[in-house]
Amino acid sequence: MESIMEEKMKLLKEKLGELADLHAASAVLEWDQLVNMPEGAAADRGEQIATIEKIKHLKSTSDELGQLLDDLTEYAKQLDPDADDARLVKVAKRNFDKQTKVPTEYVTEFARESTVAQSIWEKAKGTSDFAMFQPNLERLVELRREYADFFKPWDHVYDPLLDDFEPGMKTNEVQEIFNTLRPKQVKLIKAIREKEKVDRSFLFLDYPEKKQWDFGEEVITKFGYDWKHGRQDKSAHPFTTSFGINDVRITTRVKENYLPTAMFGTFHECGHALYEMGIAQNLNRSPLADGASMAVHESQSRMWENLIGRSMQFWNYFYPRLQEIFPSQLGNVSLEKFYRGINAVEPSLIRVEADEATYNLHIMLRMELEIALMEGSLEVKDAPNAWNQKFEEYLGILPPNDAEGILQDVHWSFGGFGYFPTYALGNLVSAQLWEKMSEEIKDIEGKIENAEFDVILAWLRENVHVHGAKYEPQELIRKITGSKITPEPFVKYLNSKFGEIYGL
Ligand code: CO
Repeated sequence: MESIMEEKMKLLKEKLGELADLHAASAVLEWDQLVNMPEGAAADRGEQIATIEKIKHLKSTSDELGQLLDDLTEYAKQLDPDADDARLVKVAKRNFDKQTKVPTEYVTEFARESTVAQSIWEKAKGTSDFAMFQPNLERLVELRREYADFFKPWDHVYDPLLDDFEPGMKTNEVQEIFNTLRPKQVKLIKAIREKEKVDRSFLFLDYPEKKQWDFGEEVITKFGYDWKHGRQDKSAHPFTTSFGINDVRITTRVKENYLPTAMFGTFHECGHALYEMGIAQNLNRSPLADGASMAVHESQSRMWENLIGRSMQFWNYFYPRLQEIFPSQLGNVSLEKFYRGINAVEPSLIRVEADEATYNLHIMLRMELEIALMEGSLEVKDAPNAWNQKFEEYLGILPPNDAEGILQDVHWSFGGFGYFPTYALGNLVSAQLWEKMSEEIKDIEGKIENAEFDVILAWLRENVHVHGAKYEPQELIRKITGSKITPEPFVKYLNSKFGEIYGL
């Protein structure tokens, strides 16, 4: 009996390994498309990726795989629940069940509608014309409700959407977290608005691309980014992708007249990459060779970007070097002034450019609207108005047009409802992990001040990275910190950091 099950386990791993290979092959094609591909190849590339995706879909929903997972589910229950094999069966079964609940016709229809919607959204954004995009968004909302219905019964129509990004997490848990968080962040921003604006004009000088690029790579090499298993390239929007855990690549973009874009973008993507590079080797070529969730992933990128990369200790070490690289731009800017400049808080219209103190408010507003749209308590045609009202309430400014308001993000155009909350949750998780890490690593600030990041990376590896996707996000965070995802450490971090900068 034992050996039959072990045979089946081996077979399962082979099948999942093939799926992982197909996934990696598709990711290589996508990476190439965004980094290298000549314009004229787009249509062919689309076909190539679609073919791989079709094979992947057939294999990942096959009766054979389903039978194998059924047979192994009982067996896995007898194993140590934390054993790799037990978790592998659980996660693979979960993915299988989710995928097979959604009919193929729906998948095709959704792919078609979201492709059309994306191109319409681009035009609508270009001319700031929400009415142009409205019918497409209405259709996508309808389709996402249909999607949610495949997973009935649920407590909330938003649950199945959220679950695609945060396995096991429920809408009411996130709402509870955000309801605590929102008034505290609104209060902090109000207090900062009373204070004098920070001068950051020196960040907008001319910073040659090559020098920016080299400095970014110098820093992430110190962070521990492994160039034998990765590389950095240029793309329109920065991203991290992995073809298995031994090839984890990042991209960045450079603005020659704004220093923070490439620098913090590189730190951010490096944080994502370090996570993937740190997953245990024996989980490679399996669905466990992945992050625990989008929020946990984002906690890693935000930690290297913000908690480390925007800290005084970090710049104590790196600022003299940056001044050496850019003597005419920064030679006369003091460390203190630079630190305040890169941490300036200014409510702004665009989410991706938002500072640490205002960022989550952009997210909460989007999630509230998504939920209202899914519940049907808000109609698509009324959404721009609802957006503007909330924006003014939370951030104190009124978007002058829809291009800089409701049309700014790509997510809704591909029907990606449920995605946004993970960005804010990631910030909260980063502060929770940081709090725990600071208890366990002696003099963490001194380590950063000396650019000794190896002890920090080792802690993250041991506590977060090695596990890959073995645990659901809430389970993992509780295992590490003793608490579920909670806003308090992040609020404490914000108040202390910005309280000091703005003298609150
Ligand atoms: Co990210």
